[in-house]
Amino acid sequence: MNQIKLSENIYYVGVNDRHTDKFENHMELPNGVSYNSYLIVDEKVALIDPVEANFLEEYLFKVKSVLGERKVDYLIINHDEPDHSSTVAAVLREYPGVQVVGNAKTFAPLEAFYGPIENKVTVAEGETLSLGTHTLQFFMVPMVHWPESMVTYEQNSKIVFSNDAFGGFGALNGGIFDDQVNLAFYEDEMRRYYANIVGKVAMQALKAIEKLSALEIKMIAPSHGLVWRSNLAWVIGKYTQWSKQESEEGIVIVYGSMHGNTARMAEIVARGAAETGIKEVKVYDVAKTEVSFIMSDIWKYKGVIIGACAHYGSMFPNMTLLVHEINEFKPKDKCYATFGGMSWSGGGVRTLAKYAEEGKWNLVTDSVEVKGAPIREEDWDKLYELGKAVAEAVKQQ
Ligand code: FEO
Repeated sequence: MNQIKLSENIYYVGVNDRHTDKFENHMELPNGVSYNSYLIVDEKVALIDPVEANFLEEYLFKVKSVLGERKVDYLIINHDEPDHSSTVAAVLREYPGVQVVGNAKTFAPLEAFYGPIENKVTVAEGETLSLGTHTLQFFMVPMVHWPESMVTYEQNSKIVFSNDAFGGFGALNGGIFDDQVNLAFYEDEMRRYYANIVGKVAMQALKAIEKLSALEIKMIAPSHGLVWRSNLAWVIGKYTQWSKQESEEGIVIVYGSMHGNTARMAEIVARGAAETGIKEVKVYDVAKTEVSFIMSDIWKYKGVIIGACAHYGSMFPNMTLLVHEINEFKPKDKCYATFGGMSWSGGGVRTLAKYAEEGKWNLVTDSVEVKGAPIREEDWDKLYELGKAVAEAVKQQ
C-alpha cells in the first residue's frame, strides 16, 4: 500500500472532507477541507492531532495500514477544537493505555468535550519527549487558534507540526506537498482560512511566527491543507504579511440591494475606482457571496466600500453579518466609504454609519445616499467621485 511519508518513519495519515457544506457551520467549503494527522513510528509511536469524527473509520484504517498490530504510545493534542479532537475518545478506545499529551490548558476543555482521560502527560514550553531517534519539542502558541493551541517540533527531521497555523481550506487533490500542486488555488483558500479564523488574533499569530523563527525548520506540517517543504520562505512570507496586515492595492465593493438600485450604484462606484488605474476592483453582492470569501478579499486589499439599501429604517439584512465580522476582526489600515439607497425614509447608510463609528473605520470621503435609482446626474457624479476618492486614498497609503 502506498504510504505518504514526510520523512523516514513520519507518515501523513490525514483525510479529506468533501461533503461538509460549511466549516464551523458558517464558512462555505466549495473545495472541501483536509484534516491532517501525522504518525511517527519509532521505539515509541506518536500520533499527532487526530481528525474529525465523521472520518473515524477511514482514519483508523490509515493509521493501522502503517502500524499493523503495533499500538500508539502517545496521542499529541496540539489543539482541542473538535475538527481535530472529535476522534479522541475513539482513538483512546482503539488504543487503551495511550498517553495523551497536552499542555496545562489542554485537558479541561478536552475532558469537557469527551469525558475523563486517564493517562495525561502535561508538557510545558520547550519541553521535550523522546520517542527513540525522534524527539518532540512543544511550543505554546496561545490563541492560534484557541488558548491551549501549541505546535510540536520534531528535532531530528526538523518538521514543525503547526496545527491551525499555516493551515488552509481546500481538500488535498492527490498532491499533499506544496511542490505537487498549483499554489495559486491554495493561496486563496489559505488566506480565506486566515482571514476568517486566525485574523482576529493576528498579533498572536505574528508572535508565533517570531517564536518559530528561532527553530531550524525543514517542513511545516499543518492540520489543514498542504504540507510545506519546498516553498517555506514563500508561505512564511505570506503568513507574516497577513499577520502584519500589509494589504495590497485594490478595492472591495460590497453591496446589499433588494431591487437593484444599490447594485446600480455599486457599478458607478466601481467605474470611478477603476478609472484611477486601480486594476484590482472586486464587486460582491452580499446576498450572493458568502461572507468568508468577502472577508478574505477585505484582508487582501486596502479599499473597502460598502453599500446597503434601506430596509424598514435599517439596512439590508444580509449586510449585518459582514459588518459585524469586520468589526469583530478589525482589519487594519483600510480606506472605507459607504453608500446606499434611501427607499422612503433611509436607514441603510445611517446604519452603516453606526457600524463605522463603532469599528472606527477610516472613512476617506462622505457617504452617498440616493433616493430611488441613480438616474440623476448629481447622484451619478457623487457615486463616481466616491469610488475615485477611495481609489486615490488607497494609492496614497
Ligand atoms: Fe482546525 Fe481551530 O481547528
